[in-house]
Amino acid sequence: MAFNFLYFALLFTFHLQFSLAGQTNLMESVPDLQNSMYKVVDGYPCVRLVNSSGEIGCSNPGREKVVAPIIRFKDANTLSRSSTILLSFDEVESFFARIADDSTFARNVGGVLVESGAEFQDKLRGFSPAHKFPQAEFAPYKSTNYEWNPIGSGIMWRRYNFPVFLLSKNSAVTIQEVALENEKKKRSYTTVVAEFDLVMQTMKAGTHDSKSCLTEETCLPLGGYSVWSSLLPINTSSLDQAKPIILAVASMDAASFFRDKSLGADSPISGLISLLAAVDALSRLDGLDDLNKQLVFLVLTGESWGYLGSRRFLLELDLQSDAVSGLDNSLFEMVYFLAVADADAEVVEVGSVGKGFNQGVTNFYAHTTGVSSATKKLWDALKHAEDSLKSENVTISSANASNPGIPPSSLMTFVKKNSLTSGVVLEDFDTVFSNKFYDSHLDDISNINSSSIAAAASLLVRSLYVLASDTKNLSTSALAAVNVNVSLVEELMGCLLSCEPGLSCELVKNYIAPSSTCPSHYVGVVLDEPSSTPPLEYVSDVSRFVWNFLADRTSVLKGQNTSSACSQDCSSEGGVCIRAETDGKGVCVVSTTRYVPAYSTRLQFHSGTWIVLPPNSSDLMGLVDPVWTESNWNAIGLRVYIVQSAAYDCLVLLGGIAVTALAYLAIVITRATIAKILKQD
Ligand SMILES: *[C@@H]1O[C@H](CO)[C@@H](O)[C@H](O)[C@H]1NC(C)=O
Ligand SMILES: *[C@@H]1O[C@H](CO)[C@@H](O)[C@H](O)[C@H]1NC(C)=O
Ligand SMILES: *[C@@H]1O[C@H](CO)[C@@H](O)[C@H](O)[C@H]1NC(C)=O
Ligand SMILES: *[C@@H]1O[C@H](CO)[C@@H](O)[C@H](O)[C@H]1NC(C)=O
Ligand SMILES: *[C@@H]1O[C@H](CO)[C@@H](O)[C@H](O)[C@H]1NC(C)=O
Ligand SMILES: *[C@@H]1O[C@H](CO)[C@@H](O)[C@H](O)[C@H]1NC(C)=O
Ligand SMILES: *[C@@H]1O[C@H](CO)[C@@H](O)[C@H](O)[C@H]1NC(C)=O
Ligand SMILES: *[C@@H]1O[C@H](CO)[C@@H](O)[C@H](O)[C@H]1NC(C)=O
Ligand SMILES: *[C@@H]1O[C@H](CO)[C@@H](O)[C@H](O)[C@H]1NC(C)=O
Repeated sequence: MAFNFLYFALLFTFHLQFSLAGQTNLMESVPDLQNSMYKVVDGYPCVRLVNSSGEIGCSNPGREKVVAPIIRFKDANTLSRSSTILLSFDEVESFFARIADDSTFARNVGGVLVESGAEFQDKLRGFSPAHKFPQAEFAPYKSTNYEWNPIGSGIMWRRYNFPVFLLSKNSAVTIQEVALENEKKKRSYTTVVAEFDLVMQTMKAGTHDSKSCLTEETCLPLGGYSVWSSLLPINTSSLDQAKPIILAVASMDAASFFRDKSLGADSPISGLISLLAAVDALSRLDGLDDLNKQLVFLVLTGESWGYLGSRRFLLELDLQSDAVSGLDNSLFEMVYFLAVADADAEVVEVGSVGKGFNQGVTNFYAHTTGVSSATKKLWDALKHAEDSLKSENVTISSANASNPGIPPSSLMTFVKKNSLTSGVVLEDFDTVFSNKFYDSHLDDISNINSSSIAAAASLLVRSLYVLASDTKNLSTSALAAVNVNVSLVEELMGCLLSCEPGLSCELVKNYIAPSSTCPSHYVGVVLDEPSSTPPLEYVSDVSRFVWNFLADRTSVLKGQNTSSACSQDCSSEGGVCIRAETDGKGVCVVSTTRYVPAYSTRLQFHSGTWIVLPPNSSDLMGLVDPVWTESNWNAIGLRVYIVQSAAYDCLVLLGGIAVTALAYLAIVITRATIAKILKQD
């Protein structure tokens, strides 16, 4: 009997030991015990976003954490209870297809863990959670069924009532082992479960559209700060001599299914890098005073979420606000958009003939709007730049005339606002995206090639120089002097697209004190009142870097007196204070570089809260504005641990009862025996 008891005690300790296997040996406190029982897993969550009429993204179904045993998708033919599904990357699409079709299956999905799939980037046919025509509602033409992104599955634009996490590389290995363990021990008494803490405030409060969640303060609007800069600085006190403006635009934000894994290397960051390299190349030229046009560079944020940045920029121009003072709408002559500069397709085959002849040639496509004299000028400038780049094997073609119009880009906003805008979008593709990973976490540094970014930058900078000079006989030698610094392009790629060195690279550290090392280009939310002189803690690392970089490169006093620390009157003299974060003093340079808030034009910040303005029928884009907001949350967590199955608990209970009964019996018998012995004595 005592033996029996021992058996159970052993079973207990054995079980405890098992769950701690391979971990800490020394257990000194409760936290120690906890650490060894729970494995915290690092992953990147998909979060809940809310628009004016609905929701997308992921959330726990209620206010509670979700706990469910882990099982591989291939072993999950039918689910009889709530489970955590482990997906290898090639199963992602079939899983989401099944969720859409099979409601019983969908009901039993407790949570989803996705392996990153970076290792099969080459083998994948492609993966894009975006729509086939991203943001079609903003297109300035009717054919919104056109498929710019044919592999787009649209999965990031749906609503899921379960948490989904992308696992980091190390965590994926841990979880794979665990799933295997679960599979092997199907009949044993323990299972490994995942516990998800992805409780979203909008879910808790039941606010399922942006108007109600902003009122209840359970969400914040998506947005951030765009940056613009002028070469040379604009002297606001002598506007009468203003020159026509040529605007060159790139975007700096990317979307993805997983919030903090939005790199967008090919689209749009390669365009941003080309633009920065082009500004750098121009800044090294002499005689910029003689240019006949004003060059303005604009780097937008929030473009993935209803073109927030460009729509707000145009609205601020209409309102003539401080953020855009010095820019005059009527002076815009041409708009130049740099959306994408590829990529893995560095060897682009032009057409289907003469394959062998085009080896090593980097070809770009110019998608232009309308046929006006200004558009023709743009095209001529691009051709002129191409001529000068013949030896470097960079070519440009005009996009297929049977395209319905320009591809998805910020130029859509400009054209929709004013159909006479002349502009060009420089892309690496003709009729459909060449980026196989549009809006996915796999659009990373391995998806692009520095030589094609440098080629795009060369094409951009030389054509801008041709346009800005505006002379018939620009000498070949003058144009040949405009050269892009290829090592700068490579350095920018390392800073903006990888964790190593990431934002702690010399170039970035020279200007700002970054808040994190690994870059992510998710737009973020607007904290507090938007302003043209925002407190720096509200501005993202990348916006601050771009601002400092542009201010430095476009400043007129560059290199002359770098010792003049910023003083109160730096801004009153038309200057800006760069590098203020790194040494606390900064350097005052003369430059016209400003932040422009980027948030929905349907929103207004009024005495501490956000108000959704009613739709205004004279604002066509405002009518289709989704007014995206992101739900608040307290903490996001993911961990795995071992639990005993209920059957095992029953067995233990029965065992316990048996032990108690036997012990009682033993006591009774013993007592009786002793009493008998005592009596006999
Ligand atoms: C701006 O223009 C005014 C008037 O032409 C001139 O007095 C002033 O020095 C200029 N400022 C700068 C920074 O060039
Ligand atoms: C351009 O292409 C030609 C022919 O394919 C090749 O010989 C040459 O090396 C290339 N030039 C550059 C700079 O890649
Ligand atoms: C333009 O696109 C159409 C349809 O997508 C295709 O049939 C045609 O061959 C393309 N033309 C060129 C020059 O690529
Ligand atoms: C980029 O493309 C060029 C030309 O095709 C190739 O030689 C080079 O190795 C590529 N670079 C990277 C980093 O893939
Ligand atoms: C064209 O070039 C010639 C010689 O370089 C120069 O004399 C002339 O002024 C130029 N014309 C223009 C309009 O710049
Ligand atoms: C090119 O860029 C690299 C890296 O930023 C820099 O060290 C170098 O001085 C630059 N070269 C020129 C000519 O500006
Ligand atoms: C450079 O800045 C220092 C410190 O502010 C100042 O004393 C000096 O006069 C400036 N030199 C020039 C040429 O502006
Ligand atoms: C609608 O927009 C027009 C033009 O932008 C503006 O004049 C008007 O005041 C707006 N109406 C409302 C109700 O906001
Ligand atoms: C809001 O999101 C839902 C879910 O994706 C979508 O069906 C709806 O069209 C969106 N509303 C707007 C105004 O875009």
